[in-house]
Amino acid sequence: MVYAIVGLLLVPILTILILRYSIKRTTFCKSTRRLTGKTILITGGNCGIGREVALDLAKRGGRVIIACRNKERGRAAVEQIKLATNNQDVFFRILDLASLSSIRDFARDFNQEEARLDILINNAAYLGPKDVTADNFERTMGVNYIGHFLLFNLLLDKLKHSAPCRVVNVLSDSYGIGHIDTDDLNGSFVKYDSYSMYGTSKLAILLFTMEADKSFKDEGITSYAVHPGATNTSLLRNWPGVFGTVLRLVAMILFRSPVEGAQSIINTAVIGGIEEFSGKLFYDCKVIELDHKCSKQLYKASMLWKATEALCETNKPITQDEEKKEI
Ligand SMILES: NC(=O)c1ccc[n+]([C@@H]2O[C@H](COP(=O)([O-])OP(=O)(O)OC[C@H]3O[C@@H](n4cnc5c(N)ncnc54)[C@H](OP(=O)(O)O)[C@@H]3O)[C@@H](O)[C@H]2O)c1
Repeated sequence: MVYAIVGLLLVPILTILILRYSIKRTTFCKSTRRLTGKTILITGGNCGIGREVALDLAKRGGRVIIACRNKERGRAAVEQIKLATNNQDVFFRILDLASLSSIRDFARDFNQEEARLDILINNAAYLGPKDVTADNFERTMGVNYIGHFLLFNLLLDKLKHSAPCRVVNVLSDSYGIGHIDTDDLNGSFVKYDSYSMYGTSKLAILLFTMEADKSFKDEGITSYAVHPGATNTSLLRNWPGVFGTVLRLVAMILFRSPVEGAQSIINTAVIGGIEEFSGKLFYDCKVIELDHKCSKQLYKASMLWKATEALCETNKPITQDEEKKEI
């Protein structure tokens, strides 16, 4: 009887320990490269994985700019990073990826006021209930993909001017369940499911990474996709109901810490000699094969680029908003 009870208790405990070990086992970035004289821009760097990346890059002496949508959260993160690193060259700028006009304002000011951009890290993300952006895009696609697509395009001249430079796009392994329909990027014609939409937004970023590599590698801009691994952050805060509560509990017990989740992103941003892997996906500080489930969708990369250009009017002059405001 005693053996049976001990056995019954041991099985779940061992399962949890094995799961925890396999999820949390992390390869840490070993590069000691300094970033003195380099400018780094990271979206959503005010908390979670992004803040740990910003902190590490600030430690390396870079000029770190956190793009975030909330002044108080931005200020708090900057103060914390300055205190921890003694690097005073850390700032935040307001950017709401759920608003094309905020992205345009941000890019206009950044282009005018910053001399260079050496590393762009597209990290911010939304995962949660159905919602729309200020421009009526489905929110997950709008923030995670369309917003970052427009941001990249509006900062392209600055990137070209600073070449060789890098773009690091933060993905999730959920891209494997994504489905791209270039005629319906908002998913209006499919039954809404927030995690599927999240997967689709991450697949879109993967295709964006591949297309950016094709188009701009020759001009010295290399692009990388990175999956940080399952990490205990506030990303799941918007997941509703009992399932959301259970998921957050599981994340606390099993998932990586934000420092662990940040490692592959830091590594891809700083390590030397990875240009030949531009356009590829990194996990645990190394290139990994793509999930075979998405292999039939990779041909859509250039169509997706064109469809997104049309959707967010990439070619619209960046000063137009300014003119509108003055009228
Ligand atoms: N955590 C994981 O298990 C996991 C796994 C795979 C991939 N990832 C990816 O890792 C990246 C970082 O996520 P995280 O886990 O660190 O989550 P997080 O702590 O929730 O951070 C997300 C960041 O995105 C920002 N953000 C959300 N909506 C925004 C908007 N409209 N405009 C500007 N910023 C916005 C958030 O700002 P606020 O603080 O203002 O909300 C926050 O700074 C994401 O790309 C995520 O998809 C995470």
